[in-house]
Amino acid sequence: MSSRRSWTCASSPSIRCQHYSWSFSSKERVKKKKKECVLPKMEVGGSLPVPNVQQLASSSEGVPVRYIRPELELERVSNDEYDRIPLIDMSKLNDNVRDDGDDEAAKLHSACKDWGFFQVINHGVAEEVILKMKADIQEFFSQPLEEKMEYAQLPNGIEGYGQAFVVSEEQKLDWGDMLYINAQPINRRNMRLWPSSLRASLDQYSIELEKVARSLMTSMAKNLGVEPEKLLDLFKEGVQTVRMNYYPPCEQASKVIGIAPHSDGSGLTLLNQVNEVQGLQIKKDGKWVPVDPIPGAFIVNVGDIIEIMSNGVYKSIEHRALVNHKKERLSIAAFHDPNVDAMIGPLPNLHTLDQEKQAPNYKSISHQDFKKLGRKMKLDGKNKGLIQYLKIQTEKEQ
Ligand code: OGA
Ligand code: NI
Repeated sequence: MSSRRSWTCASSPSIRCQHYSWSFSSKERVKKKKKECVLPKMEVGGSLPVPNVQQLASSSEGVPVRYIRPELELERVSNDEYDRIPLIDMSKLNDNVRDDGDDEAAKLHSACKDWGFFQVINHGVAEEVILKMKADIQEFFSQPLEEKMEYAQLPNGIEGYGQAFVVSEEQKLDWGDMLYINAQPINRRNMRLWPSSLRASLDQYSIELEKVARSLMTSMAKNLGVEPEKLLDLFKEGVQTVRMNYYPPCEQASKVIGIAPHSDGSGLTLLNQVNEVQGLQIKKDGKWVPVDPIPGAFIVNVGDIIEIMSNGVYKSIEHRALVNHKKERLSIAAFHDPNVDAMIGPLPNLHTLDQEKQAPNYKSISHQDFKKLGRKMKLDGKNKGLIQYLKIQTEKEQ
């Protein structure tokens, strides 16, 4: 694919970002472009206030129309047992002396390319750390509303207890509440919003999951033909946020959605389902594929940032969570992002590898601007709004 690229950006004032400077290989014309891209102005704000769903679920008022999603009936869900996300054994990835190590690396590479989602076992996180985190989060959500509201989101902020990504009064709402915490680096922590009952467990969990994320990124970088340090440096002092989701049972479970379809705006997400209630589904080949978590495993997904850094070789896949008729569902998503100063764009080193894919498929953007835009566009999950925005369209695609 060596079609010419278009460099245009949508333009409404007025966040300015310095665009990419890129060297093409000798095969293509050597072209250096520095472009100033003008991004739409937006505030990094909070979410509009909406009712607490746990309380709504326990009332006898029924399900308000704002939660009902007629489109759900039309969407195809796979019940094919072969539609299983890949399983990666991290002990085989990390252990260079094992003969089968390379196979596992190859498996990881195709999992990132073809699925964007996989589960990992033998990840090295002690079971106690996971169990304690799960127990503490269940206990947190089981408290009376007033207790939880002590950690409520502050006006204009997303961190804390509440709901996310509500930007209009008309928009349909998700059947779920969340506790969203900035976990790393430590100087981004606002301890005022960390429930005291889960400080110790969340701190441990956060440290351990960051290790898993870095270890996976090391293998991913090798698979992409990039020196691991080049990728790991971008994630040094990386931003880690943890979203603890609580989806109450719903009498009209088949008509509501716990978390609307979206792709994660993260680098790498590590998800842990807290109890036995399933609900996560990923979009594959036009249909929804349910994810069946293996006890003790983490569900890992490539986020938009790694999709961009891999120049689209790895895919950030759309997913959603459904809710249960009778039982509550809980999950913990830990998002691993680059450090605040990182530029987000295709890794330059990638392009020495594959001569055919020399040109960047995505624009580069500062991490700051990426997050500002992402917060606004996340609702557009089906179109992967932000990714689409950053994609450099080839003439063929236009
Ligand atoms: C998320 C997410 C899925 C789940 O928090 O980004 O996709 O199973 N959660 O709760
Ligand atoms: Ni997600």
